[in-house]
Amino acid sequence: MHSVHDSARKGLEAWLHRECGRATTYLLRNVSPPGAKPGAIIASPSRSNPDYYFHWVRDSAIAIRAILYLYETSRDPEARRGYLETLMHFVDFSALVQQTARELPVGLGLAKFTVEGRPAPERTEPQDDGPAIRAIEMIRFANLLLQEGRGDVVRDRLYRAELPAETVIKRDLEYVSHRVDQTSFDCWEEVRGYCFFTRFMERWALLEGAALADRLGDPGAASFYRARAGELADALRRHWDPRRGYLVAILDERGSPLVSRSGLDSSVVIATLGGYAIEGNAHQESLYPVDQEHVIATVAELEDVFAGLYPINDPGRDIPGIAIGRYPEDDYNGHRKGALGNPWPSITLAFAMYHHKLADRYRKGRPIHLTAASLPFFERLRIPRARLREGDTIQRGDPRFEAIAEAIERKGDAFLERVRYHANPDGSMSEEINRFTGFQQGARDLSMSYAAFLLAAGMRAQR
Ligand code: NOJ
Ligand code: NOJ
Repeated sequence: MHSVHDSARKGLEAWLHRECGRATTYLLRNVSPPGAKPGAIIASPSRSNPDYYFHWVRDSAIAIRAILYLYETSRDPEARRGYLETLMHFVDFSALVQQTARELPVGLGLAKFTVEGRPAPERTEPQDDGPAIRAIEMIRFANLLLQEGRGDVVRDRLYRAELPAETVIKRDLEYVSHRVDQTSFDCWEEVRGYCFFTRFMERWALLEGAALADRLGDPGAASFYRARAGELADALRRHWDPRRGYLVAILDERGSPLVSRSGLDSSVVIATLGGYAIEGNAHQESLYPVDQEHVIATVAELEDVFAGLYPINDPGRDIPGIAIGRYPEDDYNGHRKGALGNPWPSITLAFAMYHHKLADRYRKGRPIHLTAASLPFFERLRIPRARLREGDTIQRGDPRFEAIAEAIERKGDAFLERVRYHANPDGSMSEEINRFTGFQQGARDLSMSYAAFLLAAGMRAQR
């Protein structure tokens, strides 16, 4: 029994290792491509059907998270210098697109720019998750620089208290903190409403921002940001729908779920990961950590719906893991709407990351609570001979504890195996995976697919 698992695990680990190198190479090709301003990061090199040759604020911030991770973990001084240079270019390019955006009615919520830093014409609805994620990453970078004794760079380019804001982080925090009660376009760029994903990222940005503001002598701003974050916490709790048994992704103006949708949406899971953040976050503890029962319930529901929706998930096909998509009603096939939606590598990777993060949390000492909401998730692990009852609290030492933690880790690995199975032979990945054939589909070499891979593999290596 064990040796089968061991050799499968070794095979996976060898692939993860090779894929890290390739994903890094492919991701870096999308950073400051020839002809672009330094620091511009294209979502994909695809220039038509679909045209993704743009700097999306959301996508580029997630790509920068992966690059920050590479910077922090690389031991090669030359590689580190290169990553640092990319990070500084990103700061400069972000300052440029902020300047462009604030002249426009939509302001910093503008979702995408050309590689010269001009607004991309067709996106005029605000997507407020973008500035929030960018702020989170730039704050992470600022903290790192402070730790390395580069407070001068931080004050010069990243954060100064002055208003109107002239530094990258401060501008994003001012924008975010004045928008917390507004609807925005969702992270999939399709509907307007109050989005769990956006609110979660806004709260995280404001709390991290408040801590930085305190550190840099801007206490008035810190308390303003904290107050806004508190409002978001209350708003986020209203996404739980006890009747449906999961966190509803988008609420309308009146606070009701959208009638056209089930409300089940993977962006909720990506949110609770802090958008592919490896480490936890002190503020998250108080709200939706990965082991919170409503989060667990939502993961189980999503898994269930996608397992049944995509033919490549049919158990008869005998492919490891489950391929996961955006939301069940999705009709974007990577080229056009009004078609059949597909699973995505970046989202399947988020599910891998979720499971590894959850197992890690239990192993670090959190008890496993079986509640009415969370029980279905644990039952889906199908642990032989383990009796699981609502109301049980399972601690280390209980024989079921190890069995559950291992099963969650194996499940995390199965999602990674699934991504491996569908990746192109050269390790490249697109935006989607065809739901019938399993081939990569839509925008090729998507930055987010590579960033999600590097962070999911990093999470697994770090536990
Ligand atoms: C349509 C998709 O549904 C949406 O999610 C996506 O962002 C855009 N096309 C990309 O251009
Ligand atoms: C469609 C996705 O829904 C959206 O999140 C992303 O920003 C764009 N594609 C670009 O990759």
